[in-house]
Amino acid sequence: MSGWSHRHVLDLAAFSLDDYATVLELAQRFRALPTSGARKLPALQGRLVTTFFFEPSTRTRSSFELAAKRLSADVQSFSPSSSSLSKGESLLDTVRTYVAMGADLLVVRHRCTGVPAALARDLEASGARVAVLNGGDGLHSHPSQGLLDLFTLARHFAPERPGPEALRGRRIVIVGDVLHSRVARSNLWALTACGADVVLCGPSTLLPEAFVDFVAAPPPGQARDPVAQRGRITVERSLEVALPGADAVMTLRLQKERMHQHLLTSLEAYHRRYGLTHQRLERCGQAVRVLHPGPVNRGVEMGGALLDDPEICLVDEQVTNGIPVRMALLYLLAAAEGPAG
Ligand code: CP
Repeated sequence: MSGWSHRHVLDLAAFSLDDYATVLELAQRFRALPTSGARKLPALQGRLVTTFFFEPSTRTRSSFELAAKRLSADVQSFSPSSSSLSKGESLLDTVRTYVAMGADLLVVRHRCTGVPAALARDLEASGARVAVLNGGDGLHSHPSQGLLDLFTLARHFAPERPGPEALRGRRIVIVGDVLHSRVARSNLWALTACGADVVLCGPSTLLPEAFVDFVAAPPPGQARDPVAQRGRITVERSLEVALPGADAVMTLRLQKERMHQHLLTSLEAYHRRYGLTHQRLERCGQAVRVLHPGPVNRGVEMGGALLDDPEICLVDEQVTNGIPVRMALLYLLAAAEGPAG
């Protein structure tokens, strides 16, 4: 826990190498705990974790709630559709209502970029002693997903000691709809911080060339990059060129809801050019692993046979690893807040 200084977890752009090391080390300890029998740790006894998901979720919300329960927190789940938001109550007043009920740690997902950060700022200004975890905001950031992807890769490369150094010099290919992906953005900060070289691969409609400079400067509002030297980012249009030498390939959900914008000819054409299959992965020239943040469009981003192949596909492992990673984040933020009030 040395050097952990974050009151909230909003964006991995603010993470130092020590922060990644701290989260991975804690996650590895939580991952080693038995998941049956005496499975609860008392660390968050007396704390209330409230999840606010204004967008659908299967993995992130359940995983945060399970993580909180494994640390003995009380868990409350806000449901927007049945709330007084429909009567015109503002989002901030809604969240403040839950804080008044005793919420200590808030997990927030929203379709608009910046909502978790704005809530964190407004709650701090009101004097509330709460921590905000970003569960995914717009196209901007999905920090817990970036961390669980990093943990999954580090455990694959260095099962006994899955620290940030396990990623140094690795070639990680990220394929698909980078433009609309908050997961890709969080992975770019995390992977380059740990010294991996990232190859982004996709059509120009879903992957603007400007992504080569994505980590070249800290984002607005952040004075400096806390990482001294990052891995490189390159953009490659052809999957056949991107794959040779890859240590791992991460493919992203093709956001079908955006097909009406004519960004692609068809899902079939996309799969022919960018879909992962066993045969295509032979181009990597070495044992490679495949990741996907989920939900997967089976037969589009990857073939069904590959998705169901646990020797290569780490999708289930990513989901499993999400729980100890989120336990680590909740634990660190609760500790930073001080004893339960
Ligand atoms: N990866 C991810 O964020 O999945 P959910 O939308 O199901 O939470």
